[in-house]
Amino acid sequence: MIRASFEAFEAYLERAVDRLDATTPMRALVREHFAFDDPAAKRGKRLRPRILVAVAETEGANGEDAFAAAAAIELLHNFSLVHDDIEDRDELRHGRPTLWITHGIPAALTAGDAMCALSFTTLLDDPVARAPEALAAMSACLHRGNYAMCLGQGADIGFETSPSVSFAEYIAMIEGKTAALFATSCELGALTAGVAPARAAAYARMGRAYGLAFQVRDDVLGTWGTPAETGKPAGADIRRRKWSFPVAWAMDGPPSADRAVVARAYASIGELAAGDADAVIAALERLGAHAAADAACDAYIAEAVAVAAEHHLDGEGRLAELFASTARRTV
Ligand code: IPE
Ligand code: IPE
Ligand code: MG
Ligand code: MG
Repeated sequence: MIRASFEAFEAYLERAVDRLDATTPMRALVREHFAFDDPAAKRGKRLRPRILVAVAETEGANGEDAFAAAAAIELLHNFSLVHDDIEDRDELRHGRPTLWITHGIPAALTAGDAMCALSFTTLLDDPVARAPEALAAMSACLHRGNYAMCLGQGADIGFETSPSVSFAEYIAMIEGKTAALFATSCELGALTAGVAPARAAAYARMGRAYGLAFQVRDDVLGTWGTPAETGKPAGADIRRRKWSFPVAWAMDGPPSADRAVVARAYASIGELAAGDADAVIAALERLGAHAAADAACDAYIAEAVAVAAEHHLDGEGRLAELFASTARRTV
């Protein structure tokens, strides 16, 4: 079978965005977020649609028949990013000013809302004919993913004003904010191929494990990544005192002078000065939080591969290859 091309998906996604009413400013804002009019700009990695299409093809479906679902998950993910940058007060994404910086918070919020709505209508208006029950199952799956993602984001935001966060609370938070949409990608890919619900649920478990690995890596990049890699200022997560993997892991460990450096910084109020953030990052490194995060990332990738093997999900090993090649991403 011929695999669907990435370029064909990118064109499909752009057409999906262009379904927004051209007479309102929203279409231009959403096009700007995706950098559709700037060929030189860095774009998103499109990982969720890539995985969704790979699952559909692994299950014997035509990849292009999964494009509506793939565009839906990418639109939902990008809606969450537009709102996340407001919530995190991030001024840059992929090295470009975020929508709220360029257009203000009200317009950026509304553009995010429009992307969320467009995600669902893109799925429901899929030109591929599907049984009403199949479409209802796919739409319910996307709604559940959105709901879980919102709960995870809510927990993450709540952590900013919590005096302490347990390691288990941190894992439950990333399970919602990030792993849920990867689980949804895998489940939707399976559903577009018409697999039975139990098999689609196994795909969701595989996607959840991959999503946890993905967020742990995001946390490593948010702490130790360079602006050239991440398109964001260095140490941004620490300066904002975000509860990321290295911090939650270190705070879960035994008392020590380095742990006290982290604890003191996280007990303070407001953004950390650059020097204090550097001291926290150095203490985390000495505590072994960087190595622990790398090990956790590898363990979640191994879990995703093990779920796939247990349920015979990944005949050609294509998904394992995709997981391995993105596990230690630097962008
Ligand atoms: C960023 O996701 C938000 C997280 C859940 C960590 P990505 O790193 O996949 O963002 P894009 O799609 O490449 O922009
Ligand atoms: C983003 O999490 C999760 C969602 C948008 C749901 P982060 O805030 O950790 O991701 P980045 O680092 O800004 O992409
Ligand atoms: Mg963020
Ligand atoms: Mg965030």
